[in-house]
Amino acid sequence: MFALTNKVAVVTGASSGIGRATAKLFAEEGAKVVVAGRRQAELDVLVAEIAEAEGAAIAFAGDVRDEAYAKALVDLAVGRFGGLDIAFNNAGSVGQMGPVPDMLLETWHETIDTNLTGAFIGAKHQVPALLERGGGSLIFTSSFVGHTAGMPGMAAYAAAKAGLIGLTQVLAAEYGAQGLRVNALLPGGTDTPGATTTTPEARAFVEGIHALKRMAQPEEIARSALYLASDASSFTTGTALFADGGVSINRT
Ligand SMILES: NC(=O)c1ccc[n+]([C@@H]2O[C@H](COP(=O)([O-])OP(=O)(O)OC[C@H]3O[C@@H](n4cnc5c(N)ncnc54)[C@H](OP(=O)(O)O)[C@@H]3O)[C@@H](O)[C@H]2O)c1
Repeated sequence: MFALTNKVAVVTGASSGIGRATAKLFAEEGAKVVVAGRRQAELDVLVAEIAEAEGAAIAFAGDVRDEAYAKALVDLAVGRFGGLDIAFNNAGSVGQMGPVPDMLLETWHETIDTNLTGAFIGAKHQVPALLERGGGSLIFTSSFVGHTAGMPGMAAYAAAKAGLIGLTQVLAAEYGAQGLRVNALLPGGTDTPGATTTTPEARAFVEGIHALKRMAQPEEIARSALYLASDASSFTTGTALFADGGVSINRT
C-alpha cells in the first residue's frame, strides 16, 4: 500500500531536513528519485547514501526560482528514469523576518518567490509529465503558519504558504479527472536546519505550542509525505494534511 515500486519522484529541498528524509524514504520504498536543492555537495552525499542502501537517485543542483531548472528536473526524471509519478515541491525557507512596515519589498519578493512561485514553476513543468503516466501525486509543503496560526514577523512566509493551499485546491480540481492527486502537507515545528529555533528559549517556546510538547523529527514528516505519494492516499486530493503535533488546535 505504501510501496513506491517502479515510481519516479522529484523531491525539491532534498539537500536538508524534511526533503532529505523524504527522498531517503521514497527510495527505501522503491522509487527512483531525482533530488534537488542548490547545494550539489549535500545532494551528492544523499545520492551516495541512497545508493549504499541499494536505492536509485540522481542529484541535480539549482534554484527553484529558475524556470529552466524546473523544466530540466522533469526532463532528467523522464530521460534517466522513464517518466514522473510523484513530485514533492518542498523547497522553502522562512526568509528574513520582521514586522510588515519594516519589511523591504525585496524581502517580500524573495520569500514569496522561494516558497510559492518556485512551487508554481515546478508544478507547471511537472503536471504534463505526471499526466503522461496517467496521473500520480503532486505534493506541496505548506505550513500551519498562514493557515491556522498568525506568527508575528512571518507575513511573507505565511502568505506564501497559504498561497500553496490555494494552488493545491485549483490543481486538484483541474486534474482530478485525469488521475492526478494534489495535496498540501502542513508540518508542525520540525527539527531541521531551517527551523527558527536557534536559541534554547525559542526552542522551548516552539515545543510548548504543540499539543505533543515537542518538535517533529524530519523522518516523521517524511512518513506523511509517503502517505500522500503512495496508493495509501488514493482517494485523498485537494487537502491540507496536518502533520503538526497538534500545534493548530493546542491552546495550552
Ligand atoms: N522545519 C519546520 O519547522 C517547518 C515547519 C513547517 C513547514 N516547513 C517547510 O518545510 C520545507 C522544508 O524545510 P526544512 O525544515 O526541511 O528546512 P531546511 O532543512 O532548511 O531545508 C530547506 C530545503 O529547501 C531548499 N531550498 C531553499 N531555498 C531554495 C531555492 N531557492 N532553490 C532550491 N532549493 C531551495 C534547501 O536547499 P539548498 O539550501 O541546498 O538550496 C533545503 O534543501 C520548507 O518548505 C519549509 O518552509 C518547515
